[in-house]
Amino acid sequence: MQSSFIILLCALLLLQGCEDETANNNIYRPDNGNALVLRSELDATLRELIQRHGLTGDPLQGQVLPDIASPLAQLGMKLFFSKALSGNKDVACATCHHPLLGGGDNLSLSIGVDAADPDRLGHKRLLQGNLIPGVSRNAPTTFNSGLWKQFMFHDGRVAQVAGGITTPDVADAQPDPQAGANLVQAQARFPVTSNHEMRGVTFDPAGTPQSCRDRLAERLGGYGNNITPDDALSVAETDYWLDAFRQAYQQPHDQVETLITEQNITAALAEYERSQVFVNHAWKQYVQGNFAAISEPAKQGAVLFFRERGAGGYACASCHRGDFFTDEQFRNVLMPPIGPGKDNRDPQNQQDYGRWLVTQQVEDKFRFRTPSLLNVTVTGPWGHNGAYTSLDAVVRHMLNPFQAALDYDPQQLQQANIPTAQLQPNLREMLGGNTDIAGQVYSEDDVQYLMAFLQTLTDPCVTRPDCLSRWIPSSDPAQQDPMGLQLNARFY
Ligand code: HEC
Ligand code: HEC
Repeated sequence: MQSSFIILLCALLLLQGCEDETANNNIYRPDNGNALVLRSELDATLRELIQRHGLTGDPLQGQVLPDIASPLAQLGMKLFFSKALSGNKDVACATCHHPLLGGGDNLSLSIGVDAADPDRLGHKRLLQGNLIPGVSRNAPTTFNSGLWKQFMFHDGRVAQVAGGITTPDVADAQPDPQAGANLVQAQARFPVTSNHEMRGVTFDPAGTPQSCRDRLAERLGGYGNNITPDDALSVAETDYWLDAFRQAYQQPHDQVETLITEQNITAALAEYERSQVFVNHAWKQYVQGNFAAISEPAKQGAVLFFRERGAGGYACASCHRGDFFTDEQFRNVLMPPIGPGKDNRDPQNQQDYGRWLVTQQVEDKFRFRTPSLLNVTVTGPWGHNGAYTSLDAVVRHMLNPFQAALDYDPQQLQQANIPTAQLQPNLREMLGGNTDIAGQVYSEDDVQYLMAFLQTLTDPCVTRPDCLSRWIPSSDPAQQDPMGLQLNARFY
């Protein structure tokens, strides 16, 4: 009954030009199907906002990213999960960026080397001796990392610049000739050189970042004279890697020295990371014409998210812009300053000045890169330092940052030993400066609407272990490296 009524109604409207989407607010013909859907006032409002913001629902927009099934991405996966890339053979990239943990580690602040149990992930991961974390920031998700166009890291210290990619290895934002083919590769060259993340203190102790990378390549390939017996891998293990590199790079006769290099290691890592494309969320379907793809509260939330201030919205999209939900700019949104702080001359200070550490421009103090919000339901804790452990708390923060920062309660942290002793003085310093976002009065309903909207940005694959299993190497011993350095994580 009902459907024939809709068809009839539309047939009538078609005669009056309902093909033209702007001519009628109640019926819309999706680009990709023939079903006609009745749409509400709310849909019409949202359709107008979607057009005004130039959204397509698809952040890829024609960009081709690697397939996880490709040989190079497969090699990258092995490397990403291998503890052989850390000084003490105890940490893999996946330790802090595990697909089953939203491409992160579920910790406020990451724990790399010297964990009490190196293979244990999640918020029970502790440092030996119960020490405070040395890493001052939250691990961002590697999901969709291939979509960043300008900056890597919370402070953008790896960046696309005229003539190439700049990194912390070069001065004055010059292009780094060793950066590699893309931002993700350029980034992958740094965790292995960080003492707290992967390097430790005994591997290549007097070396530079570059010598550390080269030594790791030599260790993996079993060549050169620089690797101590303690640091070395077994012959079976280096043979395994040579074979894997020869296959992936399709160079069956290449010598190990030319094949297992830091550039080829990081190119493969980047291929794997860039294959983690998770953009099939309900919001995309909605933008592309399926009006039933998201709930009414989510639609209300979307209106609040995209609408300007003064017009009844919160203008979240002024920063979380476009289909990737970020403008890749740096903003001070007054995230509560917990954690050990970064690069302070006075270790007692425990402040993280964010973008200022890169530019030394005073207005950049406390600014951090606008995160993408795709899959945000699975990427907690939230904020550059994981200050918030629930999504609704960080949404409340974004609605009224000054008040939320004043009221911040470190009791919500689920991880042991996060430094908060300097929270009050550091908060005073931060709140005494400029901010890039003014607080607004908001209702409890609006928080719930915004939450419902954010939930539509999650690709169902990232919540399903069976779907994610393509990005996780098999734990079957027969398919692993001979020394058992593959991280087979435990989450309890
Ligand atoms: C000890 C935990 C840890 C390990 C191990 C680790 N990372 Fe990270 N990763 C982090 C943290 C923390 C950040 C953010 C640092 C910052 O912004 O200053 C980060 C940032 C990143 C980013 C930037 C994402 C973005 O949105 O800008 C990528 C990509 C990444 N890591 C990949 C890797 C790769 C590849 C490896 C292995 C070579 C690795 N990570 C090892 C914790 C870790
Ligand atoms: C002025 C720019 C700006 C506006 C406006 C803005 N945000 Fe943000 N948002 C940011 C920045 C920058 C961060 C990261 C801050 C940090 O980590 O220190 C962030 C972080 C977040 C996070 C945490 C994401 C994560 O992965 O940690 C969420 C969720 C979020 N914003 C939602 C919203 C919502 C909802 C609104 C509107 C009510 C909004 N934001 C308005 C810039 C903005």
